[in-house]
Amino acid sequence: MDAAKISTGQELLSRRYLTAFRIPKISHRFTDVLVIGSGVGGLSAAIHAAKVDGETEVLLIAKSELSDCSTNYAQGGIAAVLEPELNADSTASHLHDTIEAGCGLADSQTVEQVVTEGVERVRELIQMGARFDLDQGKIHFTREGGHSHPRILHAADSTGREIERALIDNALKYPNLTSLPHTFAIDLLIHPEGSACGAIVHRPTGVLQTIWAKQVILATGGAGRLYRETTNPPVTTGDGLAMAFRAGALLRDMEFVQFHPTTLYVAGADRFLITEAVRGEGGKLIDSTGQRFMTSYHPRGELAPRDAVSRGIIRRMKETGDNKVYLDLSDLPPEKIQEHFPQIHQICLSFGIDIAREPIPVRPSAHYTIGGVKVDAEGATTIPGLYAVGEVSSTGLHGANRLGSNSLLEGLVYGTRAGRKAAREARRISRLPIPFEPREEEGAAASEAGYLDLPDLQKSLQSLLWHRAGIERSGPELEASLRQVKEWISYVLPISFHNPVGWTLQNMLTGAYLIIRGALRRAESRGVHFRTDFPEQRREWERHQEVSREILEGENEEIGSKRKP
Ligand code: FUM
Repeated sequence: MDAAKISTGQELLSRRYLTAFRIPKISHRFTDVLVIGSGVGGLSAAIHAAKVDGETEVLLIAKSELSDCSTNYAQGGIAAVLEPELNADSTASHLHDTIEAGCGLADSQTVEQVVTEGVERVRELIQMGARFDLDQGKIHFTREGGHSHPRILHAADSTGREIERALIDNALKYPNLTSLPHTFAIDLLIHPEGSACGAIVHRPTGVLQTIWAKQVILATGGAGRLYRETTNPPVTTGDGLAMAFRAGALLRDMEFVQFHPTTLYVAGADRFLITEAVRGEGGKLIDSTGQRFMTSYHPRGELAPRDAVSRGIIRRMKETGDNKVYLDLSDLPPEKIQEHFPQIHQICLSFGIDIAREPIPVRPSAHYTIGGVKVDAEGATTIPGLYAVGEVSSTGLHGANRLGSNSLLEGLVYGTRAGRKAAREARRISRLPIPFEPREEEGAAASEAGYLDLPDLQKSLQSLLWHRAGIERSGPELEASLRQVKEWISYVLPISFHNPVGWTLQNMLTGAYLIIRGALRRAESRGVHFRTDFPEQRREWERHQEVSREILEGENEEIGSKRKP
């Protein structure tokens, strides 16, 4: 099979809107700026849009509680060179490490923008009330894999929770910023003339509503929950990626999914992240015989970039026949463990593991969606009036491999930029959008759910991605997976669901198709994408891989025309 020519499940392209709606029959709401998602990117965008003139109306919607997002689960921290003299560090070194981790695909201008502007954004966050750990009155910086210096600010091992708290507290102060939790965005509304003008949403009362906006910011997070093993919370089902795809935005590099090397692996336990900072502070990886092994796979040992550590772990697991390895903290003083990793300590203790004495059973799992909606320096997508920030976006910062603790920084920088830009643009547009109805063929759907067991299908999909599009992939396995996903798409995408469970599965199938398709086409190994059948980096693939409805439609037509006698 020619991997560059893969026909699309036609059903994937036939749905523009997952639900039909009739303008006179549903309620409408109007705002200047609509922000979809409430992690670090969404909250930063909403705050800065609200701040521009104190008058721009900003509406922030979230699928669940505002704090129910990946940001809230981030443990390790936020990387920024705040005090270069302290650790002989520099933004140039941060830039260098980020570019090196990106394996030839990090965009140097984006990296420069994030590492330099990020310093100011983190200071602003501290002014907003975020409290990071101190050492003798000065910020304590920790270290993570791939960083040449200790430059990670952290709040013990719950940094994301502290950042989320500070941002939510701040957002609530703006009278022109309203939040609507438990509001599921089904689809983006795109004006027939081409610009984004809101979203159709499902409210907690079960009714549909349209939110018409002059500018829309997508901040819906990643797609970690497409994988059976993941550090991500249940909300991360790639809804924003799928919505943007249906709306016609350009996405890129969907094959780059980052796996975190160390998640707690105890039967029945949630796949709780064990932060990389544990290794940064001296934790060692050992196998079931008690032997340290990472230096056999990478000269930087436990502090090698994440992809190398994840692969080192699964190789050692294969060699020993075990389903886990261990993280040994016995070299760390017990008081340091208590002080720096109280959450990990407590959670492990609840499973009978005292991490000061016993190693933690760990293995890798899906952690971060590097690919996403392509944006420019202001977070603007290829659809006018639509921005994307945070994990749903592809800014070029991470290239083919994200350096730990860079994404919270990216969310702050791009959230701020997109929020300000959207508010300024909204001010220039005098009229609110005039509601319109989608064309019959765009909104209508086909069949009813019938006998579909949604949780079962969701589990099968997550298992498929974990086993066939995970840390190591191969062409034949990806081809078989793509066929399987297309089959599922053929009977799930045409259904008219009436609740978020069904729409979520449709989004997950769309995301899965895009990830597997990207992984199959990229016939090389680079960063987080490792092909056992193409284990080397290849020069001709030193490029991004873009995808959109239009691109897939074109390919389908081409394949169709070739098939004609
Ligand atoms: O290991 C960690 O704490 C993860 C950090 C990150 O993904 O940025």
